[in-house]
Amino acid sequence: MQRKDSEFLHETPHIAEQLVAAPDHGQHPFAHIPDLAGIPISRCALRVPERYQRVNAWARAQIPQRQAARERHAGPMNPEPLDVVSLAEYMGSRLRDACSGIELVADRRGSRVYRLQFPTGDVALKLASQNAEEQGVREAEHLARREAGVLTHLQGFNLGYLIDSGDLDGGGSWLALRWLDGITPHRLFTPARQGDDSPARRDRILHAAVDVVDRLAQLHALGWLHADLQPAHILLGPTTVHLIDFALAQGPHPLPSNVTYRGGMVHFTAPETAARILATPGDQPVAVDKPAEVYALAAVLHLAWTGMPPTAYTHDQAPWRDKLRDVAQGRQHNPAAIRPWLWPSFENALHHALTPEPEDRIPSMTRFRDALSSPNTST
Ligand SMILES: Nc1ncnc2c1ncn2[C@@H]1O[C@H](COP(=O)(O)OP(=O)(O)OP(=O)(O)O)[C@@H](O)[C@H]1O
Ligand SMILES: [Mg+2]
Repeated sequence: MQRKDSEFLHETPHIAEQLVAAPDHGQHPFAHIPDLAGIPISRCALRVPERYQRVNAWARAQIPQRQAARERHAGPMNPEPLDVVSLAEYMGSRLRDACSGIELVADRRGSRVYRLQFPTGDVALKLASQNAEEQGVREAEHLARREAGVLTHLQGFNLGYLIDSGDLDGGGSWLALRWLDGITPHRLFTPARQGDDSPARRDRILHAAVDVVDRLAQLHALGWLHADLQPAHILLGPTTVHLIDFALAQGPHPLPSNVTYRGGMVHFTAPETAARILATPGDQPVAVDKPAEVYALAAVLHLAWTGMPPTAYTHDQAPWRDKLRDVAQGRQHNPAAIRPWLWPSFENALHHALTPEPEDRIPSMTRFRDALSSPNTST
């Protein structure tokens, strides 16, 4: 192996030594380096994403037998794609643990999420494929890379969440995260939608809603917005609220600019953001702010509570642009027509958080918390 990267050698000489001495067993090169797992993040040069990726690519290129090993792997005994199998092996070596199972949990829009089972705690492995553009999703291959960049800045907010990240052979990017247990807000509200109006149910819902608001208030206090709130991105754990999918998060630190922010899912996009998207070309990012995020969370809660998004679309099957227009025009449902039962205090808080005009809307998560806790307050 050639010692080309003097910066890397200088900063982590013992790791470089092990890389140089490593035999190839068709594993990820870093699987040969037991020392890597024990190095604190702040002291390991390889944890700086750009450097990690550069050294990763460099190390891979040094092991010519890898291609033969890839071909051996791709036999009928391995139903999972090779990239997942080899990343699971790599994660095993990183975590000093043996992967006991691989499960595909999500596969859409060019991005796949696998649950890797480990005795010491499962891992969510997210792969953003380079072919995504062919499936009609622009920039998807960069999303895992961008999310890794965001999470690197948010390590204090999401302690221990980001495990590792890198590039996929042949393009695309991957991200390994701690698996988080929890239910979505939609699931929490299911009994309420089915008629359970008991004080215990109301209490549970309100507490959960306040916990989510508080978690987002913490994020906002750090200068970040999640910017892609939707039911699947909020997991209510037994003791904490987890936010996931930070791929589109907007914050004070510059990130590679190859992902253009054009809002999240249409149901949760604030009217003013929808109007900006409609008024600008697709390659131009749109701004998002705290009131827009208040709207997004309230829309998630509205959907969980009534089974309907806040906007009454002209046609449910209308194309995305037409739905955005309905959102921008503030065409909202009449709650009386869709509520499962009467809960004026909760609906009052949602109403003020979903006000189409941003200047009249609850402006921040802390104010949203007040509205939920003392529900007759307006903005
Ligand atoms: N760390 C995690 N812990 C538990 N579940 C997770 C984790 N990461 C992802 N998931 C599961 O995988 C699903 C998809 O994850 P995520 O939203 O991050 O990926 P995505 O590719 O961006 O999906 P989408 O395009 O649908 O937003 C989540 O809704 C959740 O069910
Ligand atoms: Mg997602």
